[in-house]
Amino acid sequence: MTNIQAEIGVIGGSGFYSLLSDAAAVTVRTPWGDPSGEITVGRLGERQIAFLPRHGADHRFPPHRVPYRANLWALRSLGVRQIVSASAVGSLKPELGPGTIVVPDQIIDRTYGRGHTYNDSDSGVAHVSFSDPYSVAGRAAALRGSAAAGIEVVDGGTLIVINGPRFSTRAESLDYQRRGASIIGMTGMPEAALARELALEFTGLCLVTDHDAGVEVGGGVTHAEVLEQFATNLPRLRELLVATLSQLPALTGNELYGEVYGNTPPPFELP
Ligand code: ADE
Repeated sequence: MTNIQAEIGVIGGSGFYSLLSDAAAVTVRTPWGDPSGEITVGRLGERQIAFLPRHGADHRFPPHRVPYRANLWALRSLGVRQIVSASAVGSLKPELGPGTIVVPDQIIDRTYGRGHTYNDSDSGVAHVSFSDPYSVAGRAAALRGSAAAGIEVVDGGTLIVINGPRFSTRAESLDYQRRGASIIGMTGMPEAALARELALEFTGLCLVTDHDAGVEVGGGVTHAEVLEQFATNLPRLRELLVATLSQLPALTGNELYGEVYGNTPPPFELP
């Protein structure tokens, strides 16, 4: 256990492996195993931040093997009460081209076989509400941050999360468009749901790296294309992130706990 504390957790996606220059590296163990890697904790402006690269510092974990439960648990155990999660996504709409940053407000979950809940024992269950999966305050902070930094974002959109690691067929992609999804990724779930179970405010910043198979003509998405676009646009995403962090409300207690659990506490103790 460490006495290093942070108030905001940042989860970096593919190609986003570091954030803080003057930071302490912390190794955190959890009942759900080890997180993706060392967590670095340090100040960014006025805020105390814990940064965790979702796929590990060397990108060792593919999306379906990321230790999501350990990651969220480890961040909360450092004192984190709100998360900003950055990720690369494909676009399901012609008008959302590579480089667009979306602040989604809805999710369709198509993942399976991932450790997706902390309600995973025979000692009862808490069914948390998840109608609105993202933090209202966090999304508002991202929009204010966008205005302050002069970085355009798309306010709202439905992220469909597929299991991967393969990309979608053209028919699947068209199907997702018809369902009303606007962007597609592989990591947004169970991350957002686990954050809710831990009473953490959760905000997504999604960087479009490609048009998905049903939108583009041609050979379809490649991993190389995703990484190249992410690298090109990372400085803007980073700037937006920093602007967003400074706009987040101060949360250090258990502000969200009552909203999530009311009078029915979960059958596990939050870290
Ligand atoms: N991540 C980046 N682009 C993607 C796509 N087209 N499908 C799923 N995940 C992605």
